[in-house]
Amino acid sequence: MQNYLELLNEAKEILKRNTITVTVDGKPYERVIPSRDYYVHQWLWDSAGIAMGQVHLNEEDAFNELVSLVAGQWSNGLIPHIIYNPRESRYYPPADQWQTTRFTKHGIKTSGITDPPLLAISAEYICDNASDEQKKRDFIDKVLPSIVAYHDHLKRYRDPEDCGLLTIVHPWESGTDDSPRWDGILKRIDLNMIPTNIKADVDLNRKDIRYRGSQERPTEEDYYRYIYLIELFKDLSWDYTKIIQETPFAVKDILFNSIWERANEALAALLHTYGNQEEASKYQRWAEETRKALTNTWNEAYRQYCDIDVTQGNHRVIAVPTNALFMPLYAGAVTDQQLDSLLHRLSQADEFYTKYSVPSTAINSQYFNKERYWRGPTWPITNYFIIEGLKKYKTRHKDVDQLANFLTSRTIQMIRDNGFWEYFDPIDDGTKDKAKGMGCSSFSWTAAILIQLIHAAKSL
Ligand code: DGY
Repeated sequence: MQNYLELLNEAKEILKRNTITVTVDGKPYERVIPSRDYYVHQWLWDSAGIAMGQVHLNEEDAFNELVSLVAGQWSNGLIPHIIYNPRESRYYPPADQWQTTRFTKHGIKTSGITDPPLLAISAEYICDNASDEQKKRDFIDKVLPSIVAYHDHLKRYRDPEDCGLLTIVHPWESGTDDSPRWDGILKRIDLNMIPTNIKADVDLNRKDIRYRGSQERPTEEDYYRYIYLIELFKDLSWDYTKIIQETPFAVKDILFNSIWERANEALAALLHTYGNQEEASKYQRWAEETRKALTNTWNEAYRQYCDIDVTQGNHRVIAVPTNALFMPLYAGAVTDQQLDSLLHRLSQADEFYTKYSVPSTAINSQYFNKERYWRGPTWPITNYFIIEGLKKYKTRHKDVDQLANFLTSRTIQMIRDNGFWEYFDPIDDGTKDKAKGMGCSSFSWTAAILIQLIHAAKSL
């Protein structure tokens, strides 16, 4: 591990540099922003991932990160995907665009949608890795009621069918914004019906492409649709009973739901240790239902788990080869036969096995674009989920261990070779003229995941 020392120090420095203090109701809250370039607020799943890295550096920082995150919770239990930093305007859409302060405490400004629900998983990881029992207890007292309320909110509003799979209503909720998985549904939102003032607002105020080339970010058309959806939900007063019925984008996302499954297992474990046993079994039951439902999304013709487009009563299978198809590993939802297929695809040089595996879209897919956000680049966070998922199957297949180790070392190498970028070109075509790292630099998530991966490799 000696040779990782420099890299670990760099990761530590990045997290320190990206820490800001925000005052809420006279109290200071510390939080880590994803990057100083552009993501200058707090994002739910970034924050949860960051806290999992922080616990290996300073337990107190990890506790603070999640306490600060749940401060943005709505009175109905929703934890929004962005908690805005009141002193910053370097992000679009701005805080006031969402009009959500009536749902929060102390005038905290937030978005109105959520993110993959990584919070409970992070809280469990922190408790497993922190050593100060009293501080752990204080932390749990502060966050556990919020996590319970968040899960109850998601189950109530996002699984009205009680099928075990939650519905997301905006591509940003998937965390994989411009994934080709969403192309078919988004195309149905006719650009001609999007009011011109929305398009003009995007054209004038969109900021991400000023920091990075537009070829690395979602397209203009995607952005028109993202903002159109926000305006629609605002018109529905953020009433999720109505939103779920009326949104032109409603999906049972396999990535989001694999995290939901694990999050319920984590919540059950937390309640088992720190709370109420009866409540613990309720979330364990939810986890089991989701696991079964995920197994059933397997489509033999496409040899993959498939998202389901449930927009306005539809039930259409989405079969696009992206790295989300490996996520049911993380949820422990994979049968032996499905496992063979997944391992095969993960090892194919024309699909998902590249210099820096695992590309967000299979490289032989018509949708693959090595530079554009979630349409090809490799992301440390999804690699982390796949590695953790593979580890669950160690005893089920002889190749699993080797593949998990390969992915761990390649992910670390990818960061070591290129720096702490947001995402990476998965293919090495031998050209040295262009950095392989893309998106934002000194990215907190990348730093935190590197810390977790090195920690996990050390304890093997
Ligand atoms: C962005 O701005 O890129 C985010 O993914 C949306 O929160």
